[in-house]
Amino acid sequence: MNAFANGGALDHAGGMAEWMPSSWRERPAAQQPQWPDEAALERALKQLAALPPLVFAGEARNLTKALGEVATGRAFLLQAGDCAESFADFSADSIRDKLKVILQMAVVLTYGSGVHVVQVGRMAGQFAKPRSSATEQSGDLDLPSFRGHMVNDDAPSAAGRVADPERLLAAYHQSAATLNLLRAFTQGGFADLSQVHAWNQQFVASSLQGRRYEAIAGEIDRAMRFMRACGIDLDADPKLHQVPFWTTHEALILGYEEALTRRDSLTGDWYDCSAHMVWVGERTRHLDGAHMEFLSGIGNPLGCKLGPSATADEVLAICERLNPDRVPGRLTLITRLGANRVADVLPPIVAAVADAGHPVVWACDPMHGNTFTTPSGRKTRRFDDVLGEIQGFFAVHRDTGTWPGGVHIELTGDDVTECLGGSEEILEDDLELNYTTMCDPRLNARQSLDLAFRVAELLRV
Ligand code: PEP
Ligand code: CO
Repeated sequence: MNAFANGGALDHAGGMAEWMPSSWRERPAAQQPQWPDEAALERALKQLAALPPLVFAGEARNLTKALGEVATGRAFLLQAGDCAESFADFSADSIRDKLKVILQMAVVLTYGSGVHVVQVGRMAGQFAKPRSSATEQSGDLDLPSFRGHMVNDDAPSAAGRVADPERLLAAYHQSAATLNLLRAFTQGGFADLSQVHAWNQQFVASSLQGRRYEAIAGEIDRAMRFMRACGIDLDADPKLHQVPFWTTHEALILGYEEALTRRDSLTGDWYDCSAHMVWVGERTRHLDGAHMEFLSGIGNPLGCKLGPSATADEVLAICERLNPDRVPGRLTLITRLGANRVADVLPPIVAAVADAGHPVVWACDPMHGNTFTTPSGRKTRRFDDVLGEIQGFFAVHRDTGTWPGGVHIELTGDDVTECLGGSEEILEDDLELNYTTMCDPRLNARQSLDLAFRVAELLRV
């Protein structure tokens, strides 16, 4: 990969300086915490740099290949998980339940559309949040904003909101433990297709979409029995017993990402070994900024969020900056425009990228352009807006002849009441029942499954 093709830094002699994991430090870095104790930060980063990588370069390359299939229209991306992972809600059960929902959604999408689904969890590293404002009001207190458990505490106290570098290490260790369990679950039998019934949690199974899911699970059982009866040795094929599952998060706190960036001994290229895929957010995707500089030099597959202010020229420049060699699967453009803007904003962008021949994955994040606050002060999203943005996204791609490659969803395996609507309708008053997110409102397991059925229908036509 040519890291210097565009926007690369000039060295003092006017030549192109070699990209290094620290090159971002020469650029303005948005959304970085104010660490009060510089020496403590340096110590934490040094410790991180000495710790083992969480993922291997070869795995990241395999994900690029899998996403390359998405870019060419032969597979579909499901990127999903928490808005912000929590140090407090950290247990085998919560990891398992989130994984169950993602596995269920993938089954529904694959069974309903016949298209392979690439599963990427916003898990094992999603601990940092960009904020629109540096401070937030809590009662009478004017506090520094919560920036994710990698940085400070969500509890509204002045002491808790101080950025603490020890949290960088805690985030690393929680990511390692989460990833270890995900690997055990997805490779050790839990994701076996013979377990499809077991992924249906009780509170989901009793719902309309839970019953629809059971019907599919029953048909998969029947198909497997049929193949066995025909003499096919199902035990011999690992594809039926293991699921490739990848991790992803927003590469926001650049010191952390730099400390986990290692040179691959096989190729000599740099990889950010904190996750398989990382993305740059809507608030940090400045072409000359530190985040773009960092992403441009790592070999991982990359995502870039695009909000409603994005223009075709800007997006073309992003493609050149992050994927100058035009590797299919290297770059996923994640549009998050809002249900009422997608039809206007998306067409010229998609047309420009298609005309320029950039082999991107197009993914729809139907969450972040559809958030609003209720009169009682709850941040929420309507299921119908989420679905509406996805429908608009599919319509634009159908018109342009491009592949609507995937969806990017904030969800949880818990029975929360954070988003409104869905076929088992959650009403505004219900938001108080079980609203536990630290950041953005998430679809619960029923709403997620509901959405998967709708997306499968869109993929079928
Ligand atoms: C997010 O994905 O949680 C997020 C903050 O997204 P965006 O950068 O698109 O606002
Ligand atoms: Co969010």
